Formats: sequence, C-alpha cells, structure tokens
Amino acid sequence: MDSNRTAQRSATMPLLPVSYNPSISNPHMSMSITSRFTVKLVLLHRILLFVLGIVTLLCVAMATSLVPQPLKIKLNSLFMSKINVSNTKLVANFDVAFTIENPNLVSWIWFDRIDGSISYKDNALATYSLDPFILGLKEHRMMRVKISVNGLQEDQPVVKERVLEEIHRQREDGAVNFSLEMFARATYRTGWWGTKSVLMNPQCLDLRVGFLPKVGFGSWNNSGGPMTCAVPMLIDD
Ligand SMILES: *[C@@H]1O[C@H](CO)[C@@H](O)[C@H](O)[C@H]1NC(C)=O
Ligand SMILES: *[C@@H]1O[C@H](CO)[C@@H](O)[C@H](O)[C@H]1NC(C)=O
Ligand SMILES: *[C@@H]1O[C@H](CO)[C@@H](O)[C@H](O)[C@H]1NC(C)=O
Repeated sequence: MDSNRTAQRSATMPLLPVSYNPSISNPHMSMSITSRFTVKLVLLHRILLFVLGIVTLLCVAMATSLVPQPLKIKLNSLFMSKINVSNTKLVANFDVAFTIENPNLVSWIWFDRIDGSISYKDNALATYSLDPFILGLKEHRMMRVKISVNGLQEDQPVVKERVLEEIHRQREDGAVNFSLEMFARATYRTGWWGTKSVLMNPQCLDLRVGFLPKVGFGSWNNSGGPMTCAVPMLIDD
C-alpha cells in the first residue's frame, strides 16, 4: 500500500540533518536512532521554552500584583432607628452592614486597628472601632456595626445648634445624607516578600437616608445594589 510505504520511509528517514559518525558499525541503524533522539530532543526543547514562557508570564503577573492594592469596601445596608432629633439633641441608632475585601493575590492584610465615624457633612455624630482581624488572599468578610448616637460630637454650641437644626429640617423633608468613614491601620504580609504598613481611609459618602413622616426609623435605599466606597491610601511605606 502506498500510504504504508510512505509511513515506513518517513520513520526511517532522518527528519533533521544529523552528523554521520563513521566509527559506528551500522551507520543506517544508528542514524535512524540518532534522528529519532534528535526529534525528541527538539520537541523537549520546545516544550521547555513554552513552559519557560508561561512561567515568565506568571512571574510578571505576580510582580504586578505584588504592589499592594487597597482593600475594597462595599456598603450593603444602613438602617437608622430610635431617632429623636430636636434642636438640642440627636439620638439615633445606626446599623450598618458592609463587605470588606482583600483584592490581593499575594498579600494577607492584618488589620491592626480600624476606627470609624458616622457623620453629617463634616460633623462626626459618633465614632466606633473594630477589633483586629486578618483577611487572607482574595478573602472577603461581611461586617456589621451598630453605632449609637447620643448627642453630637461637637463642642461649639453655635455649630451644634445649626447642624441639629439642619438635620431636623431635612428629616422632615424626607431624607438626610450621612457619611461613613474609617481609618484602617493595616500591615500587608507577603510570605516571601516581607511586610508593609499602610493607613487607608475608606469613605462611603452621600448616603441618603430616607424617612417616612413621624416614624422613628429610616434607611439608605440600596435597591441599586451594594455601593462601592472610595479607599484612599494615606500612608504607603
Ligand atoms: C425626644 O427627646 C426629647 C428631649 O430631647 C424628649 O422630651 C422626647 O420625649 C423624646 N421623644 C421620644 C419619642 O423619645
Ligand atoms: C445626597 O446624596 C445623594 C446621593 O446619594 C446626592 O444625589 C445628593 O445630591 C446629596 N444631597 C446633598 C444635599 O448633598
Ligand atoms: C430606591 O431607588 C430606586 C432607584 O434606584 C427607586 O426606583 C425607588 O423608588 C427608591 N425607593 C425608595 C423607597 O426611595
């Protein structure tokens, strides 16, 4: 058969030029073996080159992801209850749920300290802090904080009165914008690279909390899904 003969011939013919060694007794046979060996070698070489290319690409990808990315924060919900706003006092409970995520492939994030505040414009209504925790590679965690506001963290009576009056009026109108801010002191740890201390300042701004008239609770409208908060890096060394 024709195809059979062709196959046999190509199997015994050297596919690549090989050096002929006269000291070997059966030159035809040795050439065939050497050529097959060479083909295998070339193939191996190509596979090695390919693997090397992939490894290099992976290394470049790793090196770029080595630059620590700031954490990601998404606000899931915000409820206010037991609200009582008068011209002299603000009483309210905030219940905030958010997701905090480590976007890094190679760095763990150790949160040494997170201090936060809920504020109206630039006026802090109350502060809170979170216990230290660790986020592994690509790990995320749901968190819930309850903040009680009783009064206003403002010493100047004139400012206090103006702020309270404004919140009171806006609440009557149906909505007040609050902001949630955090200062997160953290350490990035990479198994084979070392550590790096950072200070991040997550900010969830313009949270419009809607109220129904004469009802002691309000909520941020999250029908648009979780809100991504900005996370500027303050210290990066
Ligand atoms: C709201 O606070 C005022 C005093 O600040 C108090 O007299 C009033 O009873 C409170 N209202 C409610 C519903 O708790
Ligand atoms: C309140 O926040 C909303 C977005 O949530 C924004 O569109 C609106 O302009 C803000 N209002 C004020 C008075 O800042
Ligand atoms: C919440 O926002 C959506 C649009 O994102 C709007 O259609 C809906 O009426 C809002 N709900 C309330 C209670 O304000």
